[in-house]
Amino acid sequence: MNVIEMAKMLEFSQKGDDRGHLVIVEGGQDIPFDVKRIFYIYGSDPDVVRGQHANRESEFVLINVAGTSKVKVKDGKGNETVYSLNRPHTGIYLPKMVWKDMYNFSDDSVLLVLASTHYNGDEYIRDYDEFVRIVNEN
Ligand code: TYD
Repeated sequence: MNVIEMAKMLEFSQKGDDRGHLVIVEGGQDIPFDVKRIFYIYGSDPDVVRGQHANRESEFVLINVAGTSKVKVKDGKGNETVYSLNRPHTGIYLPKMVWKDMYNFSDDSVLLVLASTHYNGDEYIRDYDEFVRIVNEN
């Protein structure tokens, strides 16, 4: 299976009642890794493109817990998929070694990211041509 096929939308269980909504995300169960790190992105203008990198080691799940954004995933071999993150109980799983762009942030977007690793800047590939070269070597 190539990395584009491994990327997938996830749906989390919701426990809504008259007090509001509660969404449950269990590490290792609802997402396919143990969570080592979380970070979140907000206050990005609609014309900003974030991400623009691939990770050699990290897997991620992205959830727009408020607002909306889009994620474009590329395998460096000519295949790409665009996902819309627009519901707080859905997420997108991204395996390692995919190129990702996050964009089209709504004003109220809060993009929560769960990661399988602690942060290590050395595992980032930030040059698209280098990414293409690496994936096509292997
Ligand atoms: P960056 O990778 O550019 O964010 P994104 O790809 O999500 O748009 O990260 C912005 C800065 O934050 C950069 O200096 C690296 C730093 N950073 C950390 O120190 N730890 C982290 O877990 C992350 C995701 C980023």
